[in-house]
Amino acid sequence: ARERKRKEGVNLLELSAAYFRERLKMPEGQGARDYLERRGLAPEVLETFGVGYALDGWEGLKRHLGERGIGEPVQVEYGLLVHREESGRTYDRFRDRVMFPIRDIKGRTIGFGGRVLGDAKPKYLNSPETPVFHKGRELYGLYEARQADHRLERVVIVEGYMDVVALAQFGIRNAVATLGTSTSEEHLGRLFRMVNEVVFCFDGDRAGRQAATRALETALPLMIDGRQARFLFLPEGEDPDTLVRREGAEAFQGRITCASPLSEFLFDQAAAGRDLAHIEERERYASQVLKAIGRLPEGVLKSLMLTELSRRTGVEAANFSALLARGEVVAG
Ligand code: CTP
Ligand code: MN
Ligand code: MN
Ligand code: MN
Ligand code: MN
Repeated sequence: ARERKRKEGVNLLELSAAYFRERLKMPEGQGARDYLERRGLAPEVLETFGVGYALDGWEGLKRHLGERGIGEPVQVEYGLLVHREESGRTYDRFRDRVMFPIRDIKGRTIGFGGRVLGDAKPKYLNSPETPVFHKGRELYGLYEARQADHRLERVVIVEGYMDVVALAQFGIRNAVATLGTSTSEEHLGRLFRMVNEVVFCFDGDRAGRQAATRALETALPLMIDGRQARFLFLPEGEDPDTLVRREGAEAFQGRITCASPLSEFLFDQAAAGRDLAHIEERERYASQVLKAIGRLPEGVLKSLMLTELSRRTGVEAANFSALLARGEVVAG
């Protein structure tokens, strides 16, 4: 029954994706085409990602699906139709938005992200949780990245749909985005089953830097030997989309190549804002790093990190190991 449900939903979502793609090509899609052109997106990359357009009307999709025998309750269940309790009325969830289909690893459409053409709010509207769409676990662009390279070895995790598509247009076809949520352990677990290296590349703003700190915390327990996590920090005010357009693919690729390894980010982060000439500050620095090391799985990386912490603080590694073993490490 579960599998049948999935098929039914995916069929309805595929029909919707095709409907949106067609609308983008029609005369009514002119405004959306202009918008995408202003954003510098070429038809080929829009095709690769199946980008479409939801018309500015209340029931275009509802009627389209209805004519194909798909009832309103199912449309509501899969997030395409909104049901107003008070009035009992139903209407299309996505209206006058550029539509990004979100695909699962097999390429089946499981949900959508829709962007307004201007500055209206909310800027993005995503499918709600449905039987096939779980925002906290899906990664936008993963299917397309694997299509581009079946032996994918590294992915770049960015914040947004536009970042994934813009990077792809510039030939950087291994970017994936979380869907407006922070990177979860489930996201990383899924990625690390496929690739050995992830590079976090969030926006060059406060939120982006906070996201990197959270991503570090999430990644720690998953860092078994052989896996790599690195961090790429963008100049203030830039995101991958704006930066790759400003400086080109080669420069951006260079930034990916030079991204900081997790170890470096961890030490830098703990040292930030501390005057390590003072013993007390060194103590907090060491505690913070040690706490993070304590979350690493047993392995060579963990040993090397302890050795490095010892080198940087002048405290013998054995003392740190003893603290870790006794579970006496507290937050810095
Ligand atoms: N997001 C969202 N809902 C919003 C704003 C953002 O779901 N109201 C998610 C989207 O997945 C978006 C990502 O967070 O792509 C990053 O947000 P932001 O940096 O604000 O948008 P950009 O991706 O840079 O989009 P654009 O360049 O079109 O402004
Ligand atoms: Mn489910
Ligand atoms: Mn941002
Ligand atoms: Mn952007
Ligand atoms: Mn952004």
